[in-house]
Amino acid sequence: MPSVTTQPITAQLTHSAIFLVVTLKQDGRERDLVRALCGDMPALLRGIGFRHPDRRLSCVVGFGSDAWDRIFGAPRPAELHPFREIKGVHHAVSTPGDMLFHIRATHMDLCFELAAQIMSRIGEVVATADEVHGFKYFDERDLLGFVDGTENPVGQDALDAAVIGDEDAAFAGGSYVIVQKYLHDLKGWNAVPVEQQEGMIGRKKLSDIELDDAAKPAYAHNVLTSIEENGEPLEIVRDNMPFGDVSKGEFGTYFIGYARSPARIEKMLNNMFVGLPPGNYDRLLDFSTAVTGSLFFVPSLTFLADL
Ligand code: HEM
Repeated sequence: MPSVTTQPITAQLTHSAIFLVVTLKQDGRERDLVRALCGDMPALLRGIGFRHPDRRLSCVVGFGSDAWDRIFGAPRPAELHPFREIKGVHHAVSTPGDMLFHIRATHMDLCFELAAQIMSRIGEVVATADEVHGFKYFDERDLLGFVDGTENPVGQDALDAAVIGDEDAAFAGGSYVIVQKYLHDLKGWNAVPVEQQEGMIGRKKLSDIELDDAAKPAYAHNVLTSIEENGEPLEIVRDNMPFGDVSKGEFGTYFIGYARSPARIEKMLNNMFVGLPPGNYDRLLDFSTAVTGSLFFVPSLTFLADL
């Protein structure tokens, strides 16, 4: 198989990010403008990032199921479909999204400049569905106060978790990504005793040490999201970011998870929203409402460069 280069899905975590989700207008020019942007993306990244290599500017571009057909046509990535809502104890909504730009850098100026350049190219043929500016909060914590990302796979394990291989050879080097924007009821959460919060997450709050399995409630977040197949763990690569708007009382976590198959993320979501067994749901969701939900395919850089 010829070698392919993957988009920077496993880029080192950064202090700033912009999550930009857009929908395509019926304009007649969208196919050409989007394809041209994709081809130019490496040059845009060089133009903005070259002056500050230490700030690690990167961008991952993903395409929703309908957008794939409109921009690229056949063949299609084997498991690409619109995000399926889940109606369990809590509701995982499915919301519109044709393209995702996951822009990361150590400083927001670079993210902002790249987002602006992207929109200067395709702004006339897209509508913004959602734009979230994420930041790191103290020592890698989410706004619930827990360190978020500790058990993320790294290095080769991250690539094994997130990058498509021979199972869909035409799209090897690609990935799937699911995003969800969660808003927290921080007042309610902060009224819960820390020991109970630790049970819901499955880790200590201050030290970030994992609870003993025997001490974890069956509904702990890290119990419901640790899944296996044939005795092997099925992992995903996450880069959640806090975001918010203090004057609106908005405190959120932007969830982003990459995987070589969306099925493993969907299984985790099912465990969280419906419960395992049904009813044993993720108590984090009593304090966190998903207000968006979309699934995208992330083609390899080689695919984009060939456009
Ligand atoms: C409100 C949204 C969420 C928050 C605040 C949150 C927070 C956390 C925290 C604090 C941890 C423990 C530290 C770590 O290993 O990262 C964690 C672990 C994890 N989360 Fe989430 N999470 C959220 C949503 C999700 C969703 C939607 C998924 C998957 C669909 C997910 C999958 C995972 C996985 C796989 C782990 C690692 C479990 C392990 O191996 O121990 N999370 N999350």
